[in-house]
Amino acid sequence: MSRTNPHVVYLPKAAIARAVRRFKTPFFIYEEKRIRANCRRFRDAFRRHFPTFTPLFAVKANTNPAVLKIVFSEGFGADASSEAEAWITKKLGGWGLYTGNYTTEPEFRFVQRCGLRLNLDDASMLPTVARLGMPRFLSFRINPGISRGGMTSLLLAGPNAKYGVPHEEAVDAYRRAKALGVTRFGIHMMTGSNVLNEGYFAEVTARLLAIAGRVKRALGIEFDCINIGGGFGVPYRPTEKTLALARIAKELRRVFDARCAEFGMREPTLMAEPGRLITADAGWLVGRVAVVKKSYKTFAGIDAGMNDLPRPAIYDAYHHITVLNRPLGGRKARVNIVGRLCENNDQFAKDRLLPPVGVGDTIVIHNAGAHAYAMGHNYNNRLRSAEYLITRAGALKKVRRAETIADLFRTTGLR
Ligand SMILES: Cc1ncc(COP(=O)(O)O)c(C=O)c1O
Repeated sequence: MSRTNPHVVYLPKAAIARAVRRFKTPFFIYEEKRIRANCRRFRDAFRRHFPTFTPLFAVKANTNPAVLKIVFSEGFGADASSEAEAWITKKLGGWGLYTGNYTTEPEFRFVQRCGLRLNLDDASMLPTVARLGMPRFLSFRINPGISRGGMTSLLLAGPNAKYGVPHEEAVDAYRRAKALGVTRFGIHMMTGSNVLNEGYFAEVTARLLAIAGRVKRALGIEFDCINIGGGFGVPYRPTEKTLALARIAKELRRVFDARCAEFGMREPTLMAEPGRLITADAGWLVGRVAVVKKSYKTFAGIDAGMNDLPRPAIYDAYHHITVLNRPLGGRKARVNIVGRLCENNDQFAKDRLLPPVGVGDTIVIHNAGAHAYAMGHNYNNRLRSAEYLITRAGALKKVRRAETIADLFRTTGLR
């Protein structure tokens, strides 16, 4: 029988039960203790082999300021991908790197004012940046030609991806940047999403270091930093394993030593920018069953929907579910846990074996701390849910109120 991964099924049950008694569902709830533990696990695994390792947090994964404050206080910078992400980083006193794609001139101006370093998706953006004043430091996102991930829909590199400087054009991109007065350089990639294969990170980093090596040979450039992106996977299914970060870091050490010797390169600072690995398993979406319908199947409709957590609808992603108020060990029945939107892909679980579900039961959807609220929307004019934090002291803190109908129409000028 396959083993159950404790990271997937983990739940601060008593605190969530307390929150359900006190607050209206649906809501997201995050646990500070676990966010901090994830930050430390990640940082320490790499620092063991790379003493200057510099982690960033992919702000797009979870933009709640309370969550960002925790992550920044653990020594992480920000990986920002938009004006708002640059803005919140600055507002919270953070620092970091901006990686946009197809960026407009006003957006470049804005993120530079926020004090973020630039990571360009293509050399064609150089004239725009030069018009605004060339920064001393510049990095390029490189498309190294390979990609990996849990979902085929998440293609981040290779010939069909819209991201990054094609690796064949890397030397030319840096040549142009150097000619425009850049004196300090970074190199970046983001090729995988939810990768659970440890070996992949060394494979793709070896490629990126070889590209950096070719740039160094051609132009005499030494790199300040090499950023290997995010994409560190987390188990979503109880049968999936937890990524062995220590193994990845050890293999990267070997790759760095080999490539730096091969190309006579000064070792750049290693950077990475995980999102999911830091907050996914530290957040849960909590809803209540409103209707149980027995039709061709049993459908249990909850008060949360794909507007809260679009991953199952977009990627057919699996999220573990616990029925909070029912014992785990008893009888089970197949059920579809669905939301209230008029889209048939508004289903959190299909034919899932769960304790028999009744109206009023509390449904907890796991791994909802990353790419969840942040990916949410208002389709069907559904309102965004509140967010709560379980603090280190075990207190429940509201960190974002639920949206109101007035919020939804405020921008139309209607009163
Ligand atoms: C440029 C970039 N960096 C980092 C991330 C974070 O990815 P993950 O949350 O899978 O680690 C993303 C996610 O889309 C990204 O686009």
